[in-house]
Amino acid sequence: MRLVIHQNHEKASLWAAGYIADRINSCKDKPFILGLPTGSSPLAIYKEFIRMNKEGKLSFKNVRTFNMDEYIGLSANHQQSYRYFMMENLFKHIDIDPKHIHIPDGTASDLEKECRLYEEAITAEGGIELFLGGMGTDGHIAFNEPGSSLSSRTRIKTLTEETRAVNARFFDGDVSKVPATALTVGVGTVMAAREIVIIVTGRNKARALKAVVEEGVNHMWTLSCLQMHQRAIIVCDDEATEELKVGTVKYFKDIEREAIKQQGT
Ligand code: GLP
Repeated sequence: MRLVIHQNHEKASLWAAGYIADRINSCKDKPFILGLPTGSSPLAIYKEFIRMNKEGKLSFKNVRTFNMDEYIGLSANHQQSYRYFMMENLFKHIDIDPKHIHIPDGTASDLEKECRLYEEAITAEGGIELFLGGMGTDGHIAFNEPGSSLSSRTRIKTLTEETRAVNARFFDGDVSKVPATALTVGVGTVMAAREIVIIVTGRNKARALKAVVEEGVNHMWTLSCLQMHQRAIIVCDDEATEELKVGTVKYFKDIEREAIKQQGT
């Protein structure tokens, strides 16, 4: 697992956007299957994607996307649905074919079938090449709350009070308006991606980042699954590293410095 540490949220986001753009640009011959998150963490990355797209430096014509999750019961035009979020913050500004956008439907009449079909759609595309994600303050990935099976697949999940309280900021600060359940890809779905890039910034993520990076693989911090992945990168800022040991931060910085040196030689 790589831990790429930048000074602040903006620099971490620009690095992540540039990294993913290079991966998409280097895959011209076949569709690029990209997993995507919502939340505040990826917003600056999406802004940078839009900028690159408008300047002709990055095209999404070849990209097929699968979002991580969606609230149950919110329709596509509800302003807090993840579909609405994705349209407003990314998709309507770029050259992606709407047919290539996949987001679980939290209003489907048969939600279990919806989850099964979602996994089948990912498989039909040959699996996810790169899953971009964020992390909840309790170390969750997508909506895989503490205690989720580390081999879970797309399914219905009940949200914790902590997650609902944190997300209440998008619902007029009213926890009771935050849906109690969601559809989410599983930890196993994320782990099956050929590459995973997670953006983690801010002091409020420091406690979880410590658990994910320095403690063992543990279903109480579901993002700790990354320790078992062969190609995973956490891109973070200085604030998010504040609970890590000095030695841990130094070592991961040494690795990146060496990699840059190697590229230069
Ligand atoms: C929600 C989403 C996650 C996201 C997390 C963190 O729980 N389901 O995918 O990573 O929020 O959100 P934020 O980026 O706003 O901190």
